[in-house]
Amino acid sequence: MSTSDPQAPAVAVLPVTAAAAARAEAIAERLGVACLDPEQADAPDELLLVRVDNRIELRPPCSWGLPDFHIDYLSGALGHRLRQGVHAAPMLARACGVRGRSCPHILDLTAGLGRDGMLLASLGCQVTLVERQPLVGLLLEDALLRAAQALPWVRERVELIVTDALESSDLPVCEVAYLDPMFPARDKTAQVKKEMQLFHRLVGRDSDSDRLLERARGLAHQRIVVKRPRKAPFLANRPPSGSITGKTTRYDIYPVT
Ligand SMILES: C[S@@+](CC[C@H](N)C(=O)[O-])C[C@H]1O[C@@H](n2cnc3c(N)ncnc32)[C@H](O)[C@@H]1O
Repeated sequence: MSTSDPQAPAVAVLPVTAAAAARAEAIAERLGVACLDPEQADAPDELLLVRVDNRIELRPPCSWGLPDFHIDYLSGALGHRLRQGVHAAPMLARACGVRGRSCPHILDLTAGLGRDGMLLASLGCQVTLVERQPLVGLLLEDALLRAAQALPWVRERVELIVTDALESSDLPVCEVAYLDPMFPARDKTAQVKKEMQLFHRLVGRDSDSDRLLERARGLAHQRIVVKRPRKAPFLANRPPSGSITGKTTRYDIYPVT
């Protein structure tokens, strides 16, 4: 689903405080959506983009029965791992060829919530995040700005480009291209956590993800790394030259020759 999807509810930007109004108006203009007055807030069928305290949140229509959603790199287990650096993500690091001081430039073509990209940046890699869903792009931008205040390396190492990697001709060529497209749940028991359901509704199923492997070939000059659920088929049915497999996740590695 995208903001232009006829099935999608309208998106409105709701400035909660007067101070947030100017920023909210700029965001609304960028997305081509309405900027609501706080008095109009009881618009239950709209997906609202709301400025709360110092962050931007998405507030789903009441009928969806889902919690508000934002991205945050400073709290919880991820916040801890990002501050810690060194051993933050051993399998991901190995798959991407991060060894000691050798830190390749990573082009993360499916940024999503930016967690993997941020973990790689915390290890010392330059990371270019690419995300095509404009609302997710906006939440990412907001989370990166907040993270940069506490983690100085964010400003130095992380760049965000909001575009479709399959369409854009403007992406940098890097050592490693990283892909982690959405993967449909295998069975009904693999329910998505409630707090992640809004994200899943926004980005859909990435049904064109097989094409990303070919696209990544033109953008990486060392290797392509694809993250998959442990037992999932290979992306585009193309067997990798090797995989690193954990309890739930597998990293498939495609050297670029
Ligand atoms: C599973 S999420 C990635 C999660 C991410 N690795 C993380 O650690 O948070 C997949 C994301 O890739 C994005 N995506 C899929 N295809 C894309 C494309 N062609 N260009 C840019 N973004 C894309 C989707 O919109 C979605 O946000």
